[in-house]
Amino acid sequence: MSKFYLTTPIYYVNDEPHIGHTYTTVIADVLARYYKLVGYETFFLTGTDEHGNKIQEVAKKNNLEPKTYCDNIVEKFKIAWKLLDIGYNNFIRTTDDYHEKTVQYVLQKIYESGDIYKKYYEGLYCIHCEKFISEDELVDGVCPDHKVAPVIHKEENYFFKLSKYKDIIYEKIKSSEIKIYPETRRNEILGKLELEVEDISISRKTLKWGIVLPFDSEQTIYVWIDALINYLSGIDYFGIKGQPLPHLWPCDLHLIGKDILWFHAVIWPGLLLALKLPLPKQILAHGFFTINGQKMSKTLGNVIKPKQLVDLFGIDATRMLLISNFPLGVDGDFSIDDLRKRYNTELADNLGNLITRTFGMLDKYFSSNLEVKKPSLEVYQKINECVKEYENCFSSLQIHKIPQTILELTSYANWYVQYKTPWILFKEAKTEELKQVIFDLLYCIKASAVLFYPVMPNVTLKIFEILNEKFNESVFVDLVKRSEIYIASNKFNKSEILFKKI
Ligand code: ME8
Ligand code: MG
Repeated sequence: MSKFYLTTPIYYVNDEPHIGHTYTTVIADVLARYYKLVGYETFFLTGTDEHGNKIQEVAKKNNLEPKTYCDNIVEKFKIAWKLLDIGYNNFIRTTDDYHEKTVQYVLQKIYESGDIYKKYYEGLYCIHCEKFISEDELVDGVCPDHKVAPVIHKEENYFFKLSKYKDIIYEKIKSSEIKIYPETRRNEILGKLELEVEDISISRKTLKWGIVLPFDSEQTIYVWIDALINYLSGIDYFGIKGQPLPHLWPCDLHLIGKDILWFHAVIWPGLLLALKLPLPKQILAHGFFTINGQKMSKTLGNVIKPKQLVDLFGIDATRMLLISNFPLGVDGDFSIDDLRKRYNTELADNLGNLITRTFGMLDKYFSSNLEVKKPSLEVYQKINECVKEYENCFSSLQIHKIPQTILELTSYANWYVQYKTPWILFKEAKTEELKQVIFDLLYCIKASAVLFYPVMPNVTLKIFEILNEKFNESVFVDLVKRSEIYIASNKFNKSEILFKKI
């Protein structure tokens, strides 16, 4: 069996999850559901990043021990992911014992290989980025991302010889052994790798809230090094937890935002090369979104929490609207009003309306009993075209196009109703023709319900209830891999309104 191991970033617990974290996590869930359906051994890892300056400070502000503070926020992440029907296989916390031990094990190994050395260092550090920042990156003396002045850091720390691996990393990216999407970001990384790459500091002397270095108990491990190793501890690669899944490595896809691409495309491969482990196959860095043109931030008070969207649109529509709001990879602007409009046209008026009118006619003309025969050739071809497009979306990681691809089929079906005017066929008692129209519509509905499963699983299950059928992997595989579609029942249930207009 082939495997598919995919990850999201592990999120900082300095605040509750917002729609930025939700965006990445829902995309990962859509992919995980798809790969599982088509028969891959799928493993989906997410979690939380809990050490470092930033977390230590926010805990202090809240008058809590860091771990207690983290426990509270972690709960909020878990609740949010449950609310959105996220089916991760493991939720890793960097404060988990097996993670901490894995990190120490990894650092000891790299230390013994000779790729770690001690040196005195002075630099400017942005605690919000949790990284060093150079003078020329500052804008008016502050970090351009966080608008906060960096602090001066002067310490003797341990360094990892990243510079030693720079050329190999360059080659691996150039030859697409590590694929980076989108292309523009891949080129940015290659461009940066052509310049000087410095060794990186991997420990802190003055920071308490971190994992202790195994070879020097005076220092804690730099939060980013700690965090990246989650991708190995999350599958218990070294068997420290006693449930090792080493066959899952290398990771098939690291899904991240563009803000943390350097860490994933350069620093992480560097560590893996030092460990003599295979490198991740693909990294997808999506864009960032703004809210009505502004950066989402607590100070601006424009942070949108996933629950706000779920309260408005429901779980499935929230997932669907989020992943398709703009092309994966580019930055985009986000407004609840736009989502509302899209909800009404794409879900209520298009998909929802198709279902209501089709099952309405089925009830009115045939009392919801009908032995369904083949679709017409035209409709069969239309469904196949849609499936082909759909498969394309997954293989090219164009996740944002999935809903639109399916909605083209339901738009077509709505058009088909107007074109075939079943109410006239009924009046003129052209029963065979009328039946064929209804068959065709049912096939379009079933196909779209099947295809929507990775994005809107509950909607699929509801439509299958109306169709009086069970949804499972083989129904999915029959359609997407074998172009086989059939309607199993001849007795249908009444439809409820799936998407109430807002
Ligand atoms: O960077 N638009 O955690 P983090 C889109 N702990 N995506 C967004 C977003 C926005 N406005 N804001 C956040 C960290 N994201 C580290 C990661 S991994 C080993 C360690 C998403 O809490 C996006 O995926 O700052 C981004 O990369 C991630 O949240 C950053 O989350
Ligand atoms: Mg961040």
